[in-house]
Amino acid sequence: MKSSFVKSFSLVALAATFVFFTLSAVGGPPPNSTQEMYNRKCALCHGKDGNANTHDGKKYKVPSVRVAVKKYSEAAMIKVVEEGKGANMDSYSDELSPAQIKALVEYYRGLAKK
Ligand code: HEC
Repeated sequence: MKSSFVKSFSLVALAATFVFFTLSAVGGPPPNSTQEMYNRKCALCHGKDGNANTHDGKKYKVPSVRVAVKKYSEAAMIKVVEEGKGANMDSYSDELSPAQIKALVEYYRGLAKK
């Protein structure tokens, strides 16, 4: 009786340890970081490095961030993300807060310096 309790307890402990280590191995930046949000929502077209050197980036002729920062102020970029532009740059004001949009634009502009 007692030993079967010990047995099942250690099985549970073993399973918990396994889950814990699997989760921590996945690791990476904390979810909801601006970088993660950018990589999830924007990198498909703009590229993780901002160069738009991706399948969709080429298909939609997305300019590289290094070119874009010369043409657009931060405020102008925020406006593009809020309202969308052309046929392929969507408006994001429904799904992102103004603070998230500002953070994404700052992160995106930062890629031009790398
Ligand atoms: C489906 C492809 C696609 C996705 C996804 C996308 N964009 Fe764009 N984006 C474009 C295209 C195409 C343009 C150029 C529009 C034009 O100038 O006509 C653009 C333009 C921009 C611009 C204007 C300056 C520049 O770089 O040309 C900003 C800023 C921008 N996008 C930010 C974002 C952010 C932030 C996200 C994620 C929330 C995002 N985009 C997601 C396609 C995309």
